[in-house]
Amino acid sequence: MDSHAYRHRHLLGIEGLTPEDINHVLDLADTYVEMNRQAEKKKSLLRGRTLINCFFENSTRTRTSFEVAGKRLGADVINMAVAVSSMRKGETLIDTAMTLNAMHPDVLVVRHPESGAVQLLSEKVDCAVINAGDGSHEHPTQALLDALTIRRRKGKLGGLTVAICGDVLHSRVARSNIWLLNAMGARVRVVAPRTLLPAQVEHLGVEVFHDMAEGLADVDIVMMLRLQSERMHGSFVPSTREYFHFFGLDEDKLKFAKADALIMHPGPMNRGVEIGSTVADDIDRSLIRQQVEMGVAVRMACLELLTRELGNGPPIK
Ligand code: NCD
Repeated sequence: MDSHAYRHRHLLGIEGLTPEDINHVLDLADTYVEMNRQAEKKKSLLRGRTLINCFFENSTRTRTSFEVAGKRLGADVINMAVAVSSMRKGETLIDTAMTLNAMHPDVLVVRHPESGAVQLLSEKVDCAVINAGDGSHEHPTQALLDALTIRRRKGKLGGLTVAICGDVLHSRVARSNIWLLNAMGARVRVVAPRTLLPAQVEHLGVEVFHDMAEGLADVDIVMMLRLQSERMHGSFVPSTREYFHFFGLDEDKLKFAKADALIMHPGPMNRGVEIGSTVADDIDRSLIRQQVEMGVAVRMACLELLTRELGNGPPIK
């Protein structure tokens, strides 16, 4: 086995991954992008393996993306939608983990509204666990698919300047991207009103801006975040109209970025809140559809690497 092989048992976050780990996933994902564009898309690599999608929070694209990825590799995929209302914290989560574990799955893909819940669950089961988003903590496959999207278009990650704009406070996408982009040598900025930034966000290794004109100046990538109203208790912005006026990406604000700057958004988009339709649908500069395509390829790569490592000695993480 080559020394740069991905050697983690689970994928719980980008924190803790090395640049070699990240490149390993991205290189493998590149091969799946090509396969996914062909008529024949099915491999039998995971034949006989069982993947359970266990989503304690609503999701369309991430759950579908993992389902497509698992099926293209030949796994049996089971979708378990766990209604948040029927769930109590702690004991119930462990009970669910033990129940699923007894069915001998090979991979559990878990999304949960509480930060840290996926890690807790991973400690109770015998199979590989992929974090599909835990609270406002991490969403590692999103950062990996964003990285693959950027790398394919710009040819590199190192040396680029990326502005992550909007609701950073509630965003696991932002946290995973900050870890990944810093690890790969990109410069990361966050641009948001003070109410939507975590305390001491600069300790994550980012430059902080509260104004789009300054924050977008000369950036290569503008990454917009959804205003996550469902995580807000109280008022974080005066009104969505005012928010769009100051922080929504439109053609005028995009002019502050480099002339060839690209636009990203993890979806789902709130058009007219954090992003205007003209820029979201700009076929030359918006990478939003490519992000969805890369998502399937990245998840196939993760599934391959995590099932390959199973049984190969003690878990590293
Ligand atoms: C993100 C999420 O759920 O964290 N969406 C996604 O996975 N594509 C971002 C969001 O919900 O705004």
